[in-house]
Amino acid sequence: MGIVRTVNWRKIRIVVLTTLVLCLIPATRFYQIDEPLMRALHGPRIDPASLHLSGEFVENNLGTEQDSDGSVTVRVIAQQFLFVPHCILVPAGVPVHLRITSADNTHSLFVEGPDYNVKVLPGNISQAQLEFPNPGIYKTACREFCGAGHYAMRSEIKVVPRDQFPALRADERGTCAAQ
Ligand code: CUA
Repeated sequence: MGIVRTVNWRKIRIVVLTTLVLCLIPATRFYQIDEPLMRALHGPRIDPASLHLSGEFVENNLGTEQDSDGSVTVRVIAQQFLFVPHCILVPAGVPVHLRITSADNTHSLFVEGPDYNVKVLPGNISQAQLEFPNPGIYKTACREFCGAGHYAMRSEIKVVPRDQFPALRADERGTCAAQ
């Protein structure tokens, strides 16, 4: 005796259609998925309100720091409507470890030329490894709409020959004045 299984096409059709419609929602919103993902994956959390006061992003720790292996680490705060420090001095031809956080809104640090784009959310530290083979001035701009002053949120990275990169004291890291 065989069991007769009847395929319920109507039910299958409903399930398939529902699945398709549910898939359409994230598919049309794909550009908004990165922020919740960044919130979930990026760490460690950092308090946007105390950035300038204590911890890694305190004022005299911003800017470029020489690492023992010849690379440099650059710490930046993005805030309405500027990047701190405004001008970043780095040596050419070495890895530049960027660590950036936001004091308020979502911003994005875009570097013209190599076209690096690093998005940053308040409460998160975004990290990226950059490298500038050639000396020069690289314009940077915010590429994430962050409010009324968004289009004025610009700064620059000054890349100097490796052998001319000065050892920056803590109080010089935040400017390009040392060069
Ligand atoms: Cu910051 Cu747009």
